[in-house]
Amino acid sequence: MSEQSTDLRETVRQRYAAAAVQVTEGGTACCGPEPVEVDENFGSTLYAADERDALPAEAVAASLGCGNPLAVAELRTGERVLDLGSGGGIDVLLSARRVGPTGRAYGLDMTDEMLELALANAEKAGATNVEFLKGTIEAIPLPANTIDVVISNCVINLSTDKPAVFAETFRALKPGGRIGVTDVVADDNLTPDQRAERGDYVGCIAGALTFAEYRAGLEAAGFAGVEITATHSVADGMHSAIVRATKPLTTEGSSKTAESADACCGVNACCTPAESSADSALTVTEAQAATGCTCQN
Ligand SMILES: C[S@@+](CC[C@H](N)C(=O)[O-])C[C@H]1O[C@@H](n2cnc3c(N)ncnc32)[C@H](O)[C@@H]1O
Repeated sequence: MSEQSTDLRETVRQRYAAAAVQVTEGGTACCGPEPVEVDENFGSTLYAADERDALPAEAVAASLGCGNPLAVAELRTGERVLDLGSGGGIDVLLSARRVGPTGRAYGLDMTDEMLELALANAEKAGATNVEFLKGTIEAIPLPANTIDVVISNCVINLSTDKPAVFAETFRALKPGGRIGVTDVVADDNLTPDQRAERGDYVGCIAGALTFAEYRAGLEAAGFAGVEITATHSVADGMHSAIVRATKPLTTEGSSKTAESADACCGVNACCTPAESSADSALTVTEAQAATGCTCQN
């Protein structure tokens, strides 16, 4: 990563750390002495009242997204969901309720203060099928082919390496898995300079891809069925949008996906009830131990 990208990521981390501390101290992430600048296009008002009412006040107060990915992802009982940039945990906690005790919701965030807040919120909510992971969305700390649905709320635009985010998302998803993301997206005619004029990186504007760039990035990573739909304007030529796409069951012209699925952790059907050792001489536990990885639940 270049020095400039490292600096930018550190700026993002510091701003969201300040937002988390503000909520932990009893405020809201959006309206104090500007740890993060947001307006009515961002935050908890984008959720239905019954969704907000079911959550700890601090999870709602920390909401900094630009949409409601739960309204997009159509989660089902038993699914494994990963939230990229989970912040105070609002979407992880809502996902956990949707997938139920047989499912699991993972939150991934790079900011310690946000992870602490999310863990406290999960405890207050009494959620047991959730797990918060420290790491970056450019290097997802989960095995390949293990996640049914990747959600995210206004985070991918903050990444300084979006091709890595798309490739890592593709890797983590099971074949047939899907993404249901909300993010800020720019009109195709806006140059990077024009996007920067409309707001800074942490305000989720400067780093936004155009519709065409978003589609091309997802397709280059291997996704199919890409749909990007603007929902509301957040600045001149900039929109909150819903992004959907699917990881094909098989990858064209190769058995690469199937091979890596089989090789995952030395087992077939990795981390599902049907998992079996890829090496008939080994048990599932032995095969996983030999590859140094285990399922996270
Ligand atoms: C705009 S907030 C959104 C939080 C949450 N999704 C919500 O809707 O409230 C961005 C979050 O993503 C995290 N984040 C930003 N860039 C990240 C990266 N490259 N890797 C991991 N987390 C990141 C920040 O720490 C922050 O918690």
